[in-house]
Amino acid sequence: MSSITEGNAGQYGDSRKLAARARLHTEYTIAETGWFPWVAAQLLLKPADRVLDVGCGPAWFWAATAGLLPENLHLTLADLSPGMVDEAVARAAAHCPSVPCEAAGPMPPHFPSKTAPSIS
Ligand SMILES: C[S@@+](CC[C@H](N)C(=O)[O-])C[C@H]1O[C@@H](n2cnc3c(N)ncnc32)[C@H](O)[C@@H]1O
Repeated sequence: MSSITEGNAGQYGDSRKLAARARLHTEYTIAETGWFPWVAAQLLLKPADRVLDVGCGPAWFWAATAGLLPENLHLTLADLSPGMVDEAVARAAAHCPSVPCEAAGPMPPHFPSKTAPSIS
C-alpha cells in the first residue's frame, strides 16, 4: 500500500473524522447558503443525467440535496475507501430511494462516450 492510500485509510476509513471536521464548518459557517445546496445549484443537473461522484465520501451531499434533484437521475458513487462506499450506498438508498445508485472503487468505471456522466 502506498503512503497516499495508507493516509487515506487513516483519514477516511469511515466517516468519523470527516464528521468532526464537518461539524466545525456547520457550527462556525457564516454563509447564507449551505455548502451542499450551493454546490447542487452549480451542477445544473437535468432529468435522466448520469452522475459519477468520485470521492463521494459518505454521500452526505446526495442526502442533503435529495429534494433538489431532478427526475430519473442515475448515480455512481466511487471512493477510494470501501467503508465510505458502503456508507454512501446505504445513505443514498435511504435518502434518494428513487435514484438508482451503483458503487465503484477509486477508478472510474468505463462509460461509453455517448453515456459519459456528469462528474461531481
Ligand atoms: C473530504 S472527503 C469528501 C467527501 C464528499 N465528496 C463530500 O463532499 O462530503 C474526500 C473523499 O475522497 C476520497 N478519495 C481520496 N482519494 C481518492 C481517489 N483517488 N479516488 C476516489 N476517492 C478518493 C476519500 O476516501 C474521501 O472519502
